[in-house]
Amino acid sequence: MRKHPIAQMLGIGLVASLIGIAISLKIDWFPKSADTAAPKIDTLYDVLLICSVPVFVLVMTVAIYSVVKFRARPGDMSDGAPIHGNTRLEVIWVTIPFLMVTGLAIYAWVLLNNVEAKQPNERIINVVGQQFTWHFQYAKQGSDPGTCGGSGPNQVTTNELELANKEHVYFRICAKDVIHSFWVPEFRLKEDAVPGQTTHIRLTPNRIGNYQVVCAELCGLGHSTMRVPVHVVQQADFNNWLKQQIGATAPSSSSTPAGGGGAATNTNAEGKSLFTANGCGSCHTLADAGGTGTVGPDLDKIAADAVKYGKPRNESPVQYVTESIEKPGAFVVPGFPNGVMPTTFGQSLTAAQLSALVKYLLSVGTK
Ligand code: CUA
Repeated sequence: MRKHPIAQMLGIGLVASLIGIAISLKIDWFPKSADTAAPKIDTLYDVLLICSVPVFVLVMTVAIYSVVKFRARPGDMSDGAPIHGNTRLEVIWVTIPFLMVTGLAIYAWVLLNNVEAKQPNERIINVVGQQFTWHFQYAKQGSDPGTCGGSGPNQVTTNELELANKEHVYFRICAKDVIHSFWVPEFRLKEDAVPGQTTHIRLTPNRIGNYQVVCAELCGLGHSTMRVPVHVVQQADFNNWLKQQIGATAPSSSSTPAGGGGAATNTNAEGKSLFTANGCGSCHTLADAGGTGTVGPDLDKIAADAVKYGKPRNESPVQYVTESIEKPGAFVVPGFPNGVMPTTFGQSLTAAQLSALVKYLLSVGTK
């Protein structure tokens, strides 16, 4: 005896759904988690998968069944039956998805509130995005470094994100130029960095290890290079690291332009720290400062390049390098794309800083 086709379809659909759900839950969609929010977010994704698979299977089963069962037989040139609609069916297929989506939205909303709840003793860290790197600002005293992207006396700026294991963190996120997105896949959370706005994320790292901040918003040709290290370490190691960072910034802030005897070395140290602080190494190779980028010209050869490309344009090496930083589009080294290098360094660097950076580059880029 033949079974009813609907019962047959339901049977096939049920088996296919169970197989689909099993496969989707078996796949590791995300890297190993490293904060307290990650397991809850992973569960949300599992629930979404469990809900989506049967819907997909249902739609496909009905579609495939209809294509096979109701196809036009060879030689059948007649019109299809004039069907206007089916109110009962329409009510069902509007109500069920509506209830599902509403339920999932409420679940996600409750979860988001839970993840974003204020925690006691939070450390505030500013996250500053710029083409094409990230900077972090910690408080020297207390736990609040002040305005994101500012230059307050209580701020120490770093090129890596250091976090103490189990310490609650509140990130203030901002951008200097275009929209970026702050994302550490192991933490799951992601937030846009928008120029002129300050956004935020709360999280508590809970696994010691090394990760990466990834920019998750297409922000220019160097977007894929916009990654910097994240280290989650023991609280004591974090405290030592922060002390070191605060100590390292102290001499440079008190250095005077009229340096006297050690002027050349001072300029070089300042040039090197400017190179690092402005993220130049994410696009340019410069062995002396640990830059390994290949988006822009190799600066280990900048002294030779400055002569080669500066001479025909009647520029001294210093003029050539200065112009390349201030107006990167004025001359583009053959083989490299125009419009990738930010054009904001002429404004963001002071004349003294620019000159120190140029001198530094010409003195170490002599390969
Ligand atoms: Cu910054 Cu993509």
